[in-house]
Amino acid sequence: MNSIEKAERIRRMKGVEPVSCLTGYDFATGKLLDEAGVDLVLVGDSLGMVVLGFPDTTHVTMDHMLHHTAAVARGVERALVVGDLPIHSYGSPAEALANARLLVAAGADAVKLEGGLKQVDKIGAIIDGGIPVFGHMGMLPQRVLEEGGYKKKGKSDDEVEAIIEGCLALEAAGCFAVVLESVVGAAAARVTAALDIPTIGIGCGVGNCDGEIAVISDVVGAYPWFVPPFAVVRADVAGETKRAAEEYISALKV
Ligand code: KIV
Repeated sequence: MNSIEKAERIRRMKGVEPVSCLTGYDFATGKLLDEAGVDLVLVGDSLGMVVLGFPDTTHVTMDHMLHHTAAVARGVERALVVGDLPIHSYGSPAEALANARLLVAAGADAVKLEGGLKQVDKIGAIIDGGIPVFGHMGMLPQRVLEEGGYKKKGKSDDEVEAIIEGCLALEAAGCFAVVLESVVGAAAARVTAALDIPTIGIGCGVGNCDGEIAVISDVVGAYPWFVPPFAVVRADVAGETKRAAEEYISALKV
């Protein structure tokens, strides 16, 4: 299956089966997630926090994204690999297309960018260039500094209408799916019902979207210093890593 067919497969999952999405940042994790059967692996700019140790995603560059996208792509055979366009990499349609092409050259099948109506011309340029685009609405982490924190979205009727309008614009521009981040559950359900493309929720409650995305470090318990309140932690990789390292050190020092 080529990249466009893989993205089309995700688009057609709406109303048929939930779309499973996880972030991945390196070869081994990409390979393990693919072997586990995940539908989509996102090389998210969340790598700025959970891999590179920055306070938020605003420090992530194209060089970071290309390095990690290439590593993940080497490990994934079946799932759709999406590379995030980082902040300041899609200021104009030409810049968006040029950087999307670099992510594809690194191994991505598709790219993701944040925002609604204002991004339609950039999304159009990328899709006209033959590259599938994953939208991102609701709370937009690249705007955390302007907004003064991570705020829940969809609390008022006006806000819900604006999210729906933005998502419909993304759908009309040709996005194959859209991430909904930190949107009030009932509002996320309204957005999901208004769209023909799948909504992929994170922090939107259970059953309000057509699929889910989670940060892999949260799922496996690899980043214990900050765990979002909505995350379901299913393993203790941090604890096991520390335990194994302590055992290794003790065995050496006896
Ligand atoms: O960067 C990221 O990991 C994301 C997901 C949380 C949707 O954008």
